[in-house]
Amino acid sequence: TQQLEQSPRFLSIQEGENLTVYCNSSTPVFSSLQWYRQDPGEGPVLLVTVVTGGEVKKLKRLTFQFGDARKDSSLHITAAQPGDTGLYRCAGAQYS
Ligand SMILES: *[C@@H]1O[C@H](CO)[C@@H](O)[C@H](O)[C@H]1NC(C)=O
Ligand SMILES: *[C@@H]1O[C@H](CO)[C@@H](O)[C@H](O)[C@H]1NC(C)=O
Repeated sequence: TQQLEQSPRFLSIQEGENLTVYCNSSTPVFSSLQWYRQDPGEGPVLLVTVVTGGEVKKLKRLTFQFGDARKDSSLHITAAQPGDTGLYRCAGAQYS
């Protein structure tokens, strides 16, 4: 797996806000991509794995989308709640 370029790096959430985090790759296509959430003092918790280009997965107010070309992914938070504050990280696996 590999760390990807992510923006913004840290998420500071205003309640009720909609926001999007991007995870973009400068290298070729990923076979799969994972999003993790990490809270202070805790290990990363796997939220979703996306595999197919264009795939969309929903987890409550979080919507994850894998780019059609499998080179980027976005995390969209709708009507954010205070509990959504945290560090979201993504990692991709490349074809071997
Ligand atoms: C967030 O998105 C929802 C659904 O698209 C929309 O109804 C709402 O007005 C948006 N809220 C803000 C603060 O933009
Ligand atoms: C990441 O990719 C998305 C979708 O292609 C694009 O809108 C966004 O500007 C990119 N962000 C960065 C930092 O490259």
